[in-house]
Amino acid sequence: MTDKSTPIAVVVLAAGQGTRMRSDIPKVLQPMAGQPLLAHVLDLATQLNAAKTVVVYGHGGDLVREHFPAPELGWALQAEQLGTGHAVQQAMPQIEDDARVLVLCGDVPLLTSASVQRLIDDTAVTSVGVLTVAMDDPTGYGRIVRDANGRVVKIVEQKDGSPEELAVREINSGVFVVPSKQLCGWLDALQPQNAQGEYYLTDIVGLAVADGVSVEGIQADGFEEIMGINDRVQLAAAERVYQRRAVDVLMRAGARVADPARVDIRGQVTTGRDVFIDVNAVFVGDVTLGDRVQIGPNCVVTDSTIGDDTVVLANCVLESASVGAACNIGPYARLRPGSDLSERAKVGNFVEIKKSHIGVGSKVNHLTYIGDATIGADVNVGAGTITCNYDGANKHQTVIGDGAFIGSGVELVAPVNIGSGATIGAGSTITKPAPDDVLTLERARQTSIKNWQRPVKKPK
Ligand code: UD1
Ligand code: CA
Repeated sequence: MTDKSTPIAVVVLAAGQGTRMRSDIPKVLQPMAGQPLLAHVLDLATQLNAAKTVVVYGHGGDLVREHFPAPELGWALQAEQLGTGHAVQQAMPQIEDDARVLVLCGDVPLLTSASVQRLIDDTAVTSVGVLTVAMDDPTGYGRIVRDANGRVVKIVEQKDGSPEELAVREINSGVFVVPSKQLCGWLDALQPQNAQGEYYLTDIVGLAVADGVSVEGIQADGFEEIMGINDRVQLAAAERVYQRRAVDVLMRAGARVADPARVDIRGQVTTGRDVFIDVNAVFVGDVTLGDRVQIGPNCVVTDSTIGDDTVVLANCVLESASVGAACNIGPYARLRPGSDLSERAKVGNFVEIKKSHIGVGSKVNHLTYIGDATIGADVNVGAGTITCNYDGANKHQTVIGDGAFIGSGVELVAPVNIGSGATIGAGSTITKPAPDDVLTLERARQTSIKNWQRPVKKPK
């Protein structure tokens, strides 16, 4: 039975030092899928529509705070780590008495909103709920102790349990939902009389039962969800779980993936129908792939949109690029920020594009640099042509009209305009406007020198 009007206040425990990471970066800032662990937990709080979120921080806390500047986020300093109960206590002054407090851990990034929502929904507003999971090897975790009727009566830590208690396979995930006002009272009553000399949050279960408040043990969907990250081995394992989930979402949306274990998603990817993603693709930030887009092996695509039927061949790097429909990219092409390709454009091998528009059907096929340029429709840019867009201090524009043909090895010294239908002879260095529809070339006259002697090495 739930009362939807009761606000949820989230307390995230993130004061742990994370010594086992052997890192100068606080544990909750270690990245999973390109985002700090804590960001994943805060995302969950957002998905649950939490009325308030307070992060309990300690070691390296200023660095953590700087990473999450959102003004609505609450911060509570736990200067000394006296235990999980003490940690929650630090947050309570910022939480309303009428809320339900949801306790999450900053180093448990794989928890799903489905499991937590079930914990919230299946626990009465006036009861305590704890998310549990049954494990083959529960060593190290707190055990859920139930009475003969199956009611949760207490949680016992590994270091404090009797052999019978330690035989229990149902463990405490560390995720609780508790009525705020009573939680304050129970936290005040905690005593550090245990093997670790700590104020255990888990002891509120026994206190609640003693006060006649029922405690629900709600099962999480799987063990992976409650996996805590303490070292880099666990961090890598969590990354794989995250990635497999993210790739499964793409496949369910209609993408074909050559190998689900060789796609990494560090952000949000939206795919159309019949997309194909070959091995070793890395997607970063917001990426949208239209229908039937093909991504070749070893491509990195960051914050880009790719239109329907576009083929990206092997080893391309795209960043903040907008690619129209039915384009051909690569292999070995680099689209830098501000690359804007209209439909049917072709960008071939060893071509770099930056802050430039490439018009409909235009081709830039080989070994070329195009920067700060506007290229019209049906333009052909020959091999080895470059825009000389930078004078050491300023960037300048190159404009190429529709239907122009730029020969191979041309230097377009910006600012410069090439007229529509213009032809530029190979090897030219163009510094002045080239008129529409005529051939412009700039080339020294070729000479051959008779009787010229090639230098020879002196014999040793
Ligand atoms: C805790 C639970 C245990 C549960 C396990 C699940 C207690 C007493 N035990 O054990 O029942 O099975 O989590 O992973 O709660 N933290 C602080 N301040 C502190 C102490 C801890 O912020 O003073 C934070 C840690 O950074 C971490 C979380 O609380 O994010 C859990 O603390 P940890 O020391 O890992 O608890 P466990 O011994 O694993
Ligand atoms: Ca832990």
